[in-house]
Amino acid sequence: MKPKYDRFWLAVALLVFRIGLTKAAGQCTPVSASIYGMYLKGHAFKTVKTTFNGECDLKCMEDPKCQSYNVFIGQNLCELNLRTKEARPEDFIPQLHRYYMKRGNDRAPLGSIPELPAESCGEIKASEGDNMENKEYWIYSDANAGNAILAHCKDAWQKLNTDPVCYGARNDRFGPFRIPKTGLVRTMKLVHKSGSLRCNPIDPDSYWGCTFFRYNNSLLTIITNEKGEAILPSTADMEEAFPTGYSCTEKHFYHLDGIDHKTPELVFRNLSNPLSLSRGQELRIWYGQDWKNCSEDGNNGTICVDVFALYI
Ligand SMILES: *[C@@H]1O[C@H](CO)[C@@H](O)[C@H](O)[C@H]1NC(C)=O
Ligand SMILES: *[C@@H]1O[C@H](CO)[C@@H](O)[C@H](O)[C@H]1NC(C)=O
Ligand SMILES: *[C@@H]1O[C@H](CO)[C@@H](O)[C@H](O)[C@H]1NC(C)=O
Ligand SMILES: *[C@@H]1O[C@H](CO)[C@@H](O)[C@H](O)[C@H]1NC(C)=O
Repeated sequence: MKPKYDRFWLAVALLVFRIGLTKAAGQCTPVSASIYGMYLKGHAFKTVKTTFNGECDLKCMEDPKCQSYNVFIGQNLCELNLRTKEARPEDFIPQLHRYYMKRGNDRAPLGSIPELPAESCGEIKASEGDNMENKEYWIYSDANAGNAILAHCKDAWQKLNTDPVCYGARNDRFGPFRIPKTGLVRTMKLVHKSGSLRCNPIDPDSYWGCTFFRYNNSLLTIITNEKGEAILPSTADMEEAFPTGYSCTEKHFYHLDGIDHKTPELVFRNLSNPLSLSRGQELRIWYGQDWKNCSEDGNNGTICVDVFALYI
């Protein structure tokens, strides 16, 4: 027992020394300290046999991918990890005779280099918190296939389109876009870029709906699959259409709390069953009347949007 015990305290002494040094260098961001009795499970990319204390720290600093490491106390062994505990809190697990250490200020943010793709923008948000930027990151386009793409992340949202998606209000002028990443999606949002739509020549224009009084400020912007089946919102989440006698008898509008005709972002509700999407799949944005071929003769305008998805 005795030698193990000595090494343990030597490791502690070295860490304290390192923290002291970093402080002395005048860094203002907090330096991560080691966390005893814990390790990050399932994200190691390399196991290192160490010959001196502090070697694991050096090995981690040598590899741009390294995000954190697990030390097996008294075994001259450590693991270098591709994730931090912030990225994967569910894998941060108690274990005697181990300690976990996050890499210091020279750590590459998750998804910032091609060798270190993230599962999703949401994982980067979890890993980097408020330091996450509104920019392109490396993301797996399919977690099982292992291909990484550059994707624009805005917090946990992944932008799906490159050029703005534009659509009209009549003559089947839907806006098509392609899915860049296979996976499960909790919901989507549309961000207004330019233009607006009218559902008749008299009433004011709208980004998302129809200002004609009969519609009671409801929203008519629908995302469908290639077959024209509603995905967001689902048909079940749309309101009953007008009674017979009016030309639009099928469901094609809905309300969302806090979203009005000129709200810059149309954020759909979270789906109770996540949507399964495949890379390359086409989705379409429709104006409800154009989608159902009803009452569209007096419609006019074009609107362009960016489309974002919240991958799980
Ligand atoms: C109009 O919509 C609001 C919700 O935004 C609802 O509370 C109200 O009952 C609706 N009015 C009619 C006449 O359908
Ligand atoms: C939707 O889900 C996301 C994450 O899955 C969550 O952060 C957000 O709060 C949810 N929104 C609502 C309105 O429940
Ligand atoms: C609407 O009309 C177009 C032809 O202009 C047709 O291809 C389409 O199937 C129609 N959609 C519906 C929902 O009836
Ligand atoms: C649609 O708008 C354009 C430009 O504002 C206008 O020139 C055109 O006459 C309008 N069409 C209809 C059917 O109102």
